[in-house]
Amino acid sequence: MLKLQSVTKHYASNTVLSNISFTVNPGEIIGIVGENGAGKSTLLRLLATIDKPTSGKISWNDFSYDTKWKEMRKHIGYVPQEIAIWEDLTVEENMRFFERLTSRHKQIEELRQICLAMNLTKWQETARTLSGGMKRKLNLAITLIHEPEILLLDEPTVGIDLKSKKEIGAYIQKQARDFNRIILYISHDMDEIQALCDRVICIGEDSFYQDILQQTGKEIISF
Ligand SMILES: Nc1ncnc2c1ncn2[C@@H]1O[C@H](COP(=O)(O)OP(=O)(O)OP(=O)(O)O)[C@@H](O)[C@H]1O
Ligand SMILES: [Mg+2]
Repeated sequence: MLKLQSVTKHYASNTVLSNISFTVNPGEIIGIVGENGAGKSTLLRLLATIDKPTSGKISWNDFSYDTKWKEMRKHIGYVPQEIAIWEDLTVEENMRFFERLTSRHKQIEELRQICLAMNLTKWQETARTLSGGMKRKLNLAITLIHEPEILLLDEPTVGIDLKSKKEIGAYIQKQARDFNRIILYISHDMDEIQALCDRVICIGEDSFYQDILQQTGKEIISF
């Protein structure tokens, strides 16, 4: 179980996250919504061990983020808001490069299957020549090589077509349902949130998102 207890984050005098507490069980998909600048990416960065809370505690099962952040990284797959792939390498070369950085060895066919599961078929093409949606799929595929128990996705489907969105959505759902992974997922697309998420975290004072979410019947956690 992933657990946040009274997590607060300041940048100088700017309080971005204030007193955030919630738990997530294996197999759950949690949506994160809120207006631009609300602190969604900051929350994901804390959970990805890239940044540290100013106060409060984060833990996963018996691991405390304070003391076990290095070990935690093996269990986390993080897709940042900006795409992070090697543009000059092919899809295959990207997958092989990142596979070598992980502790879990994968055969080339296994790597190809991760891409195929999302309908990313352009195995030999240079990443630079892929469309935006395909690059996002590759970015997600890279994150899944080491089979992380916690997947943190920062707007993974922004700017991509409906078909690719559905493919990525189905794939994310499969990760939760079949492999019991914890998924935290930032999106501005309320249809997507409604279709994919079990519960929704709403960050920010503005009731705009809460009012929309209320109509979806989803359980909302507000901060
Ligand atoms: N490294 C940093 N140093 C200082 N301030 C930061 C830093 N990172 C984020 N912030 C500030 O924290 C606030 C929240 O930013 P964050 O990126 O988490 O928002 P967001 O909800 O992800 O927004 P968006 O929907 O635009 O992606 C903003 O006011 C931002 O300027
Ligand atoms: Mg953001």
